[in-house]
Amino acid sequence: MYDNGPVLGRNDTCWCGSGKKYKKCHLAMDERLQELWDAGEEVLPRSLMKTPEDIEGIRRSAAVNMGALDEVARRIGPGVTTAEIDRWVHDYTVEHGAIPAPLDYEGFPKSCCTSVNGVVCHGIPSDDEVLKEGDVVNVDCSTILDGYFSDSSRMFTVGEVSEERGRLVEVTRESVERGLAAVRPWGHLGDVAHAVQEHVEAAGYSVVREFGGHGIGLEFHEDPFVGFVGEAGTGPVLAPGFCFTIEPMVNAGEPDIDMSDPNGWTVRTKDGSDSAQWEVQLVVTEDGYEVLSR
Ligand code: MF3
Ligand code: CO
Repeated sequence: MYDNGPVLGRNDTCWCGSGKKYKKCHLAMDERLQELWDAGEEVLPRSLMKTPEDIEGIRRSAAVNMGALDEVARRIGPGVTTAEIDRWVHDYTVEHGAIPAPLDYEGFPKSCCTSVNGVVCHGIPSDDEVLKEGDVVNVDCSTILDGYFSDSSRMFTVGEVSEERGRLVEVTRESVERGLAAVRPWGHLGDVAHAVQEHVEAAGYSVVREFGGHGIGLEFHEDPFVGFVGEAGTGPVLAPGFCFTIEPMVNAGEPDIDMSDPNGWTVRTKDGSDSAQWEVQLVVTEDGYEVLSR
């Protein structure tokens, strides 16, 4: 039997908090998951599935998260330091009653990640890092509001950027759209990975293997790991209520990364090539998906 928490009778109140009887709510879905489990499919536990109340909470958190990124979009430009970006994100988040999730997360010292040019991810905002014309920077924001987590990131181009950098940013953005378009309830997580990888590699770029997306909602990083290389039709089943991120890190050169920075966080491309990333957070619905944060 698929281990899915307490076994409910048909007339019991559904586990999702809707107040409806189980038979009128999640029973059919749970039966379908049981059948898939019996057929040998990878089925995520009910504890990862978001209830309508959870999703509403995540939406409110995401509104702040996206607002912080909008604030960055309004103010970023040549001459701005990454520490200033961090302060905008921090202040916006706190002014809206929320907490920046990165701050003190496993010792991370700032309120967002700023990853410039050849930095793949987890760049630490700094007073010494001044953005200049031609840079490309990922700003990764994550927010906790009333215990609900949201997480998304965008690329920003500083002034005029080279054609190569512009193309890397654009192809990466498109790869996330391809990933989203591959999301189907009762499909597989591997469908998303395959769609992303195919688009990235067709453009001559590479997908970083070591980092990926994740389940999210009641915690910052929930199961499962969401990789962006793989085969369609493989991996966990995309059941309605599953909330996760699509956030491929795309290198212009080789996929290998360098994690030797003594600060313990900043990840760079090994070959020094540029890297880009966009991140969206979504929830699988009965008939598709809803983007919660982007
Ligand atoms: N926001 C990142 C993600 O997309 C996680 C950053 S962890 C931090 O999962 F500590 F560096 F902020
Ligand atoms: Co994330």
